[in-house]
Amino acid sequence: MPRPRIIVERDAVALAERAAERVVARARENTGEPAICLTGGSTPKRLYQLLATPEWRNRLPWQRVQWFIGDDRFVPPEDDLSNIGMARHAFLDGCAPPGNIHAIPIDAASPEEAARAYEQTLREFQTRHRTDGAPLFDLVLLGVGPDGHTASLFPGYPAASETEHWVVGVPEAHVAPFVPRVSLTLPCLAQCREMLLLAAGHDKRAILSRVFAGEDLPATHAQSARGETWWLIDKAAAPESGEA
Ligand code: 6PG
Repeated sequence: MPRPRIIVERDAVALAERAAERVVARARENTGEPAICLTGGSTPKRLYQLLATPEWRNRLPWQRVQWFIGDDRFVPPEDDLSNIGMARHAFLDGCAPPGNIHAIPIDAASPEEAARAYEQTLREFQTRHRTDGAPLFDLVLLGVGPDGHTASLFPGYPAASETEHWVVGVPEAHVAPFVPRVSLTLPCLAQCREMLLLAAGHDKRAILSRVFAGEDLPATHAQSARGETWWLIDKAAAPESGEA
């Protein structure tokens, strides 16, 4: 697997623009049903808001793009902690046909049950729209937490080393907010043409230096199996040379 490449942008604004270019490029490249897997957290919010602006929204083939989410907190979409709720509010609700938004079903009895249902959704999508053997996702967006988690795959948790299931329930989070989660697993996230990991701000510098040094952390192992993997970070988050 080729090593991930790192792009450093001036600041969080430039980072969001660069990420928006990647979303548009990947969505337009697939003339069938492009699938984009979104992420939660504060860093991508700026990207999502940008995609809803008049300048950007006309560039996306909204009728064709299918939106998935890499992990969510097991809370209703109107809860402030909901990842899909944030994405809907920031851009999806005003731009995407409702049938193109594939949320993790939080009305399931448990995170585990929600995981089974979402895995089924993903497998059906693959069977129906990836008959040519193309990767499940055109683009997977991810972030990194202070402990090196990505999606809701926390270091040392069984979910982080899951090899069979595509989606798992995570009963307890390792960092705030301490609510149960549902997360795609590394083998599922790896099925993409491009994986784009976003990180901005000084707070990310310490964890990025550990990830770029190859430490055994979920974020280090997040890589596209057959496509490209990019880290898109801003200057404030970039480890000093020699740190990584
Ligand atoms: C979640 C996220 C998580 C996030 C990172 C970075 O639900 O918490 O999906 O993996 O991407 O924690 O989040 P920030 O961008 O807010 O730092």
